[in-house]
Amino acid sequence: MVSTLHENTRRTPVTVLGLGPMGRALASAFLDARHPVTVWNRTPGKAGDLPGRGAVVAGSVQGAVRAGHVVIVCLIDYDAVRATLEHAPADWEDRRLVNLTSGEPAQARRMSQWAAARGIDYLDGAVLTPTPAIGTPAGAVLLSGSRHVYEAVQETMAAVGGTATHVGDDPGRASAYEIALLDIFATSVNGIVHAFALASAEGIEPERFAAFAAGIGGFLPEMITRFAEQIRTGHYPGDRSTIASAASGITHIISTAAGHGIDVGMLTAAKTTIDQAVADGYGPQGLARLTTVLRAPARARA
Ligand SMILES: NC(=O)c1ccc[n+]([C@@H]2O[C@H](COP(=O)([O-])OP(=O)(O)OC[C@H]3O[C@@H](n4cnc5c(N)ncnc54)[C@H](OP(=O)(O)O)[C@@H]3O)[C@@H](O)[C@H]2O)c1
Repeated sequence: MVSTLHENTRRTPVTVLGLGPMGRALASAFLDARHPVTVWNRTPGKAGDLPGRGAVVAGSVQGAVRAGHVVIVCLIDYDAVRATLEHAPADWEDRRLVNLTSGEPAQARRMSQWAAARGIDYLDGAVLTPTPAIGTPAGAVLLSGSRHVYEAVQETMAAVGGTATHVGDDPGRASAYEIALLDIFATSVNGIVHAFALASAEGIEPERFAAFAAGIGGFLPEMITRFAEQIRTGHYPGDRSTIASAASGITHIISTAAGHGIDVGMLTAAKTTIDQAVADGYGPQGLARLTTVLRAPARARA
């Protein structure tokens, strides 16, 4: 017990503002790593078992910020962060602010300017893993902003789990990663539920379909790595599959889905890009080429 107290006094005191599922998971991880932890939440009564494990529940943002040397804020959005931090003390002295709230790169950059105008050392971050991974080797957080601030919080942030990686001085960079990764998630979920709708309209039982659908997921990591190299080199070989072939395939999906009265808006949008690529002469090339078509000026799609 004495040694635990001694260790606690040596660890950086951490404050967590926001006790949604992620804020609670973060506070829990800092407690597990034996940091003194203070928590605050707009609505009282959300601390769960944290007080019983040693966390101090602050009655105000002022008190919470004063208690921590590293202040983590993890709320629903940046408006909530700004509204909350307006109640923080004016003087942050040695404290560092780490904002793990999801948002957009431009919001992260504005938040960094807001902090700089108040003399607050600021990092913006993105949590890439769900709550059960926090505090385990699978936990992954990206941080961006001043390298100097990152180095000051690096040891403390190690409590979050596997990696707390600095991805650059641009405070919007962590958010940019998060948004692009969410893009994969959002469109994949849409694709998966659409495929289930189509399969069930054709009378295929969900579990039977899932056995094959899960196999497709297994091909994606290799494809993502291969696409990265092709996009970097600007070389899009069509030796495995071509855009022309995809144009044919997506036409069949749209036709079958529409025949069942299933919405085809997402597929039609994808087909527009594929058709544009074919019109631009990229039919024989590989699918990674579509990246450049998507990024082309609007005239390409006019
Ligand atoms: N949960 C995950 O698995 C996960 C994974 C990766 C990233 N994230 C990100 O982590 C952040 C927090 O997520 P979450 O899952 O903990 O829950 P959330 O539902 O996104 O956020 C809940 C928190 O936001 C607070 N809040 C909402 N509006 C507020 C306002 N106007 N002023 C002050 N506080 C306000 C809530 O306080 P009250 O209790 O008072 O409403 C609560 O503390 C989000 O940006 C989310 O995208 C979450």
